[in-house]
Amino acid sequence: MTVPELEPLLVQARDLNLETAVTGVLLYSDGNFMQYFEGSEESTRVTYERIRASRRHEGIIEILNERIAQRSFSDWQMGFAQPTRSELLALSTARWLGMAGQAPGSSAISPGLALLQSFWKRVRR
Ligand SMILES: Cc1cc2nc3c(=O)[nH]c(=O)nc-3n(C[C@H](O)[C@H](O)[C@H](O)COP(=O)(O)O)c2cc1C
Repeated sequence: MTVPELEPLLVQARDLNLETAVTGVLLYSDGNFMQYFEGSEESTRVTYERIRASRRHEGIIEILNERIAQRSFSDWQMGFAQPTRSELLALSTARWLGMAGQAPGSSAISPGLALLQSFWKRVRR
């Protein structure tokens, strides 16, 4: 997909996410997407089913699906950014596992999420 083609998809996704109280970010680089989204168990399940059913992509890989203590992108119905190929590679190969198994109440986050948060702080729009 080209970036102009992505615009209607993003508008639709944000509408749906507003309804279901899903928040997150969508990254796009050179034909590859990476998406992080958060919400209730039910909303994220329905959202993931919808994304999986879309014919606009192929080769989907689920990196992680786990409970989180709090949202990281609560202000974003679906933020969008275009990282470089090397940034996307770094984000997608970072260690994402790590929040589960922490002491209850711990606010520690995985290296993957920490990297995504700092990337987003730099580029958000
Ligand atoms: C890259 C990508 C990201 C998407 N993100 C969301 C999302 O955040 N929330 C959502 O409800 N649907 C999301 N969708 C699904 C679309 O909103 C829409 O339901 C789907 O694209 C329609 O199916 P179609 O692409 O086969 O026409 C996403 C789809 C794609 C391809």
